[in-house]
Amino acid sequence: MKYLITTYGCQANERDSETIAGLLREIGYEEAHQLPEADVLIFNTCCVREKAENKVLSQIGKLKELKERNPNLIIGICGCMVQQEQVSAKIRQRAPHVDLIFGTHNIHQLPELIHNIRQTRQAQVRILPDREEIIEGLPSCRKYPFKAFVNITYGCDNFCSYCIVPYVRGREKSRKPQDILSEIEKLAQDGVVEVVLLGQNVNSYGKNLDPSCSFGELLAMVNEVPGLRRIRYLTSHPRDFTEELVQIIAGLKKVCPHFHLPIQSGSNRILQKMNRGYTREQYLELITTIRRIVPEASITTDLIVGFPGERDEDFQDTLDLVRQARFDSAFTFLYSPRTGTPAARMKEQIPLALKKERLQQLMDLQNEISLTINKGMEGQVVEILVEAFSKKAQNILEGRSVTNKLVLMEGSADLIGRFCQVKITEALTWFLKGDLI
Ligand code: SAH
Ligand code: SF4
Ligand code: F3S
Repeated sequence: MKYLITTYGCQANERDSETIAGLLREIGYEEAHQLPEADVLIFNTCCVREKAENKVLSQIGKLKELKERNPNLIIGICGCMVQQEQVSAKIRQRAPHVDLIFGTHNIHQLPELIHNIRQTRQAQVRILPDREEIIEGLPSCRKYPFKAFVNITYGCDNFCSYCIVPYVRGREKSRKPQDILSEIEKLAQDGVVEVVLLGQNVNSYGKNLDPSCSFGELLAMVNEVPGLRRIRYLTSHPRDFTEELVQIIAGLKKVCPHFHLPIQSGSNRILQKMNRGYTREQYLELITTIRRIVPEASITTDLIVGFPGERDEDFQDTLDLVRQARFDSAFTFLYSPRTGTPAARMKEQIPLALKKERLQQLMDLQNEISLTINKGMEGQVVEILVEAFSKKAQNILEGRSVTNKLVLMEGSADLIGRFCQVKITEALTWFLKGDLI
């Protein structure tokens, strides 16, 4: 019996898919490499933007034929998208070939649900809106043997006005430091050299823990785990990133000098409507602080264009901020109205053509900055953790520097999972090319 999991969305979903794989292995399934081989298909979905949802919906439509040919096939949809009631209702109505729908708080029940389907041939739906306790100790089948995602918080309490995540992932909850540490210690004993600590807002880690533990304190403890070489974390909220935390990070050897700080907009008027809780001035001050304390740091961001009511002067403020901040790179998004969020109800929605025009201008500017910064790295020697063969070309390996730069180089499979010194020979906008030393 074989399973195939398709994952959309962020690292929280990637991590959940590892748990889903672990649970399926425990009940006797192995991983399939192609769609037709699979007895169980799971789609772990994302709904942060409309585009992500549409991809899944069209994929589900295509599966009807597969199910007709193989009635024993189990098709399951899970993840953030099905946490929206109107969406799971629509899937149940329009896609009767879907056997299984389970939410982000029901993952541990997967073995039971599969068992029920096999016994009764009845569709199973299990979606809890939220869960108070954290379920620890679930099995997992990790994607990489040398690098691992580790949840530190679940959910989000920020309610940025455009964002659906707090509605589909529930209230913010922190894992106990000892649970996190024992997971990381085990990982390190198994050969993991890099961990990525995950949370929608890692800076607010530990707020409701008793005894309390701050994100900085947690980092300091993880830094002591033997065998571990690199610590990353995603995502930080600029509002909660203090100078004290920058100082702590600067003092911890294993914590990578990479700061991903989503700004979203450079306009104070829009930032306020987004409910982000900081101004552009405060954000720029934080950038200055980081550059002063950690001069080698790379800084990246997320930006949204076309938020409701965004005027040309607001967009100019965003461009101006990008020029001042000089990000290493940025994820740029078209604002996408999400049902149930305050921004989706705001008047003055921006026409798609204008959003696209602004996005293009913003990307052109950021690409120019990224290329200039990357060009400055030509000739330098950087340490890379080699992750995999590149999908783009044969015999080309890819890895990441401490500053999270993507580096491509020629090499053989035995380098995967190892640290290498690489001399940068050519810089491009999105990655660097180098030679192994
Ligand atoms: N918790 C993280 C990431 C959330 S989702 C954070 O706060 O940074 C990742 C990114 O998707 C966000 O940073 C934002 O830039 C973008 N995003 C979220 N909702 C969106 C929407 N409705 N339309 C367009 N982009 C959105
Ligand atoms: Fe969404 Fe804001 Fe929470 Fe990030 S911090 S997940 S953007 S509500
Ligand atoms: Fe998407 Fe859910 Fe992550 S909506 S971005 S997969 S938390």
